Amino acid sequence: MLLHALMIFAYAVIPGHALALPGANTNSNVTHPQVITIPNISSQICGTEPPSEELRQAHVDLRDNKPIGPRQSSQRLLINTYMHFVSTFDQASTYPHNVRNTLMSAQVAVLNQAYMPANIAFRIAGTSYTVRDDWATDANSTLMKQSLRQGTYSALNMYFQTNLSLAPYTYNPDLVLLGYCTLPTNMTYKNAQGGQTEFPAADYATDGCNVLAASMPQSPVPAYGYDEGKTAVHEVGHWFGLLHTFQDNTCNPSDPGDYIADTPQESASTSGCPSGKDSCPGNPGLDPINNYMDYSTDECYNQFTPDQQTRMTNMYAMYRNNE
Ligand SMILES: *[C@@H]1O[C@H](CO)[C@@H](O)[C@H](O)[C@H]1NC(C)=O
Ligand SMILES: *[C@@H]1O[C@H](CO)[C@@H](O)[C@H](O)[C@H]1NC(C)=O
Ligand SMILES: *[C@@H]1O[C@H](CO)[C@@H](O)[C@H](O)[C@H]1NC(C)=O
Ligand SMILES: *[C@@H]1O[C@H](CO)[C@@H](O)[C@H](O)[C@H]1NC(C)=O
Ligand SMILES: *[C@@H]1O[C@H](CO)[C@@H](O)[C@H](O)[C@H]1NC(C)=O
Repeated sequence: MLLHALMIFAYAVIPGHALALPGANTNSNVTHPQVITIPNISSQICGTEPPSEELRQAHVDLRDNKPIGPRQSSQRLLINTYMHFVSTFDQASTYPHNVRNTLMSAQVAVLNQAYMPANIAFRIAGTSYTVRDDWATDANSTLMKQSLRQGTYSALNMYFQTNLSLAPYTYNPDLVLLGYCTLPTNMTYKNAQGGQTEFPAADYATDGCNVLAASMPQSPVPAYGYDEGKTAVHEVGHWFGLLHTFQDNTCNPSDPGDYIADTPQESASTSGCPSGKDSCPGNPGLDPINNYMDYSTDECYNQFTPDQQTRMTNMYAMYRNNE
C-alpha cells in the first residue's frame, strides 16, 4: 500500500500572549494570537513507514545506473498541482479567501524556487476549499482525498489542513503533524496491446501530500521554525520518491541509507538549525543539515543535492509520467 512519511511536532497555544519570538505573530489584535513553539523533533517518533521493496529496488537500480525504464530528459518538468485548503470551523475566520490565495501562491513560489535547480516547476492547475472538521484534522483522510483528488497519477495534489493531526484527531497540541506524503508506487500495467496503461484513478485516490496550513509562508498562524513553506518542499520530495537523509538511522557503511551518493550518511535527524552536526563521525562528510530531506527547521533548508535532483526526475519519469 501507499506509504506515509510523518513529521511530528508539538505546539503550544498561549491565548492572549504575544511573545516577541521570530516567526511568531506579534500583532496583539489578530483574530487568533498564538505562539507555536519549537518542536524537539529528534526526540519525537517519526511515523515514516519503511519504503516498499519495489521502491528500494528502483533506488538501487537508479543509483547503480542500470538500464531500466524511461529516464527524464533535460527538458523542464512542469507539474500540474492541485491545492486543496481544508479548514476546521473554528479556524475558518483565520483563513479568509484573500489569505488563502496569498498563502497558496506564496507556497507555489517557494516550491518553484526550491525545485528550480532540479528543472522542476509547479503550476496551480486547480484549487478547492472545504470547511469540515473531520477532513481538516485528517480523521477522514481517505474519504477527503477520494472526494477532492484531481488529475492523473502525474498530478500533484496537496492538502493544506489547518488541524493536521495523528489519531485520535481530537485536538491535542502534542499530536499535531507538520506533514506526510505518499511515496510513488507502480500504477501502470501492460494492456492487451502490450502498451502501458494506468490503473483507474480510484486506485491512487490517496496519492498526494498532506501539509499543516500553519507551515505555509505568510501564514497568519505561523508554525514557529516551520513557517517558510519548506515543509511542503520536503513532503513533495517524498512524492517524487526521495527518502529521508537519515533513512535507516545508522552509520553502518554497508547500509544503503537514502540510496543517494552525495548525501553523507546520517544516523539521526537534525532538530532546529545547528551550526553543524556529524552523527557519523567515522564516515565521510558532515550531516546534510541544509538538505530538504532532513528534519531541520526551515531557515536551515536550502538544497537538494545533484543526485537527489536527478533521482527525482528519473523516478517521476518511471512512475508518474505515463501520459
Ligand atoms: C490593530 O488595531 C489597530 C487599532 O484598532 C488598527 O489600527 C490596526 O490596523 C490593527 N492591526 C491589525 C493587524 O489588524
Ligand atoms: C530533546 O530531545 C533530546 C533527545 O531525546 C533530549 O536529550 C533533550 O533533553 C530534549 N530537549 C528538550 C528541550 O526537550
Ligand atoms: C467520516 O465521514 C463519514 C461520511 O461523512 C461520516 O459518517 C463519519 O462519521 C466520518 N468519520 C469521522 C471520524 O468523522
Ligand atoms: C484546531 O486547532 C486549534 C489550534 O490551532 C485548536 O484551538 C482547535 O480546537 C482545533 N480544532 C479542532 C476541531 O480540532
Ligand atoms: C510497472 O509495471 C509494468 C507492468 O508490469 C512494467 O512494465 C513497468 O516497468 C513497471 N514500472 C516500474 C517503474 O517499476
